[in-house]
Amino acid sequence: MITVHFIAHGDPDSPESAHLTCKTGQSLMQAALSGGVDGIAADCGGSLTCATCHVFVREPWAGQLPPASGDERGMLEFAAEAPRPNSRLSCQIRLTDALDGLTVDLPASQY
Ligand code: FES
Repeated sequence: MITVHFIAHGDPDSPESAHLTCKTGQSLMQAALSGGVDGIAADCGGSLTCATCHVFVREPWAGQLPPASGDERGMLEFAAEAPRPNSRLSCQIRLTDALDGLTVDLPASQY
């Protein structure tokens, strides 16, 4: 089990922020849905066709993730909030023990 943090409005104490203990082997998006994180819509269920699972990954974790695929980078262009260098689609992030403490910021909206 690892801990992951979803930060809303840049405020870890925001009622919309979530701090979850979750299993490895699943995607960050799946952990968010299981944990009831409102800021992750994930309309396509992880098939890389919606961009409503957009997150901004904080360092040092951003630099530890495998690079985004071309398909992921392409889909990020359709995200509601403009992508930044640390943008990722949470359905493409596989949780591992090395990602314990992973912290991501939620966009203002997924639509
Ligand atoms: Fe649709 Fe990630 S859940 S692209």
